[in-house]
Amino acid sequence: MEKIVSLCKRRGFIFQSSEIYGGLSACWDYGPIGVELKRNVKEAWWRAMVHSRRDIVGLDASILMHPRVWEASGHLAGFADPLVDCKECKERFRADHLENLQKCPKCGGKLTEVRKFNLMFKTFMGPLEDESATVFMRPETAQGIFVNFLNVQQAARLKPPFGIAQIGKSFRNEITPGNFTYRTREFEQMEMEFFVPPAEDEQWYGYWKKARFDWYVSCGIQPDHLRLRDHAKEELAHYAKSCCDVEYNFPFGWSELEGIANRTDFDLKQHSEHSGKSLAFFDEETKQHYFPYVIEPAAGADRATLAFLVDAYAVEGEGKDARTVLRLHPALAPIKVAVLPLSKNEQLVPLADEVAGSLRKHFMIDVDLTGSIGKRYRRQDEVGTPLCVTIDFDSLEDRAVTVRDRDTMQQERVAIPELLPLLHERLG
Ligand code: GAP
Repeated sequence: MEKIVSLCKRRGFIFQSSEIYGGLSACWDYGPIGVELKRNVKEAWWRAMVHSRRDIVGLDASILMHPRVWEASGHLAGFADPLVDCKECKERFRADHLENLQKCPKCGGKLTEVRKFNLMFKTFMGPLEDESATVFMRPETAQGIFVNFLNVQQAARLKPPFGIAQIGKSFRNEITPGNFTYRTREFEQMEMEFFVPPAEDEQWYGYWKKARFDWYVSCGIQPDHLRLRDHAKEELAHYAKSCCDVEYNFPFGWSELEGIANRTDFDLKQHSEHSGKSLAFFDEETKQHYFPYVIEPAAGADRATLAFLVDAYAVEGEGKDARTVLRLHPALAPIKVAVLPLSKNEQLVPLADEVAGSLRKHFMIDVDLTGSIGKRYRRQDEVGTPLCVTIDFDSLEDRAVTVRDRDTMQQERVAIPELLPLLHERLG
């Protein structure tokens, strides 16, 4: 894991937030390469969940919501972790992560009684900083979807089964954040609420478990590094009839990437009750109102990005010949094609610029002029660039270039007019 953290900093994937001030615990900033990778992860999710389906639409709800939303959802009363403090070293632990509640695992000191600690961040809306102005930073994007259920259903003229998808920031004042970007206090979720007739809940729950597992594989994760884990009854959240995690075998062990839950009609009923406005769906065919059940695949964009990074990371060879390569799926690769003139020659550089310019409206392109060609290939391998296009002195004569493949390192000569179709074919 340390090697990946160090690569992330060195090559501009991820930096510590506010680093020059000593950093802010568990907060991270995505650099020029990282922001492209994370955007591609979100784009791949949106493509699979919204654009390629006729039964799912998107939403972008606000982070701040009416405080009564969190009363209705159960977060105000129940979104809490059990917490203990060490009376000596002052370290704080989640009680449910400790085997012995008598002794601090760090210094052996005495622990306090278990207390419930609500994970929602509070802030104030408007100029007054009192109880009546308190609002919460959303701890999940899902509630923005539930309160808009009828708005979306009516505007888009949809009938269950159908889904509403959203990508956005969520906030949780986690007691034990850590493992790099795996558990943070500010993170991005990719959630989809799929509303179904109650009798179809089991069928759709099974469907989404498989579909979500397959999505990670289709984006390049090796299937034997993934597993589905069903939750035991006592693990289930207050709203869930059943839940299953897609887990990834991170260097720190099998850990949750995404949860797929059957939330029943809990949320629509709670919001109907608390707001006094029914969110029941009216079925034109049967002329009856009913509350759909909800199957929710809830993923984390930061966790998925970390899993794709870890899975793609490889070091080949040894010593000075060692090559670090990120075997990212082309759809996720931050840079798709690097254009490399063999040297900083006054004829080669303009030709490289011309080729790069013609490709830029199709792909994310990098032009790298510095260092030996071998070093430049290695630099591109390290950030997962699937293809490099090299312009050499023959290119000036034959208007052809060399395309080098990241994974096989094989090279092929291509005429410049044939370059674009070839890149499209290779990159998909
Ligand atoms: N709406 C349901 C829900 O929020 P969750 O299992 O608490 O369910 C869904 O969160 C996903 O959000 C997780 O599987 C994870 O990928 C991501 N996530 C949750 N808490 C996180 C945190 N503190 N840091 C990074 N990602 C987190």
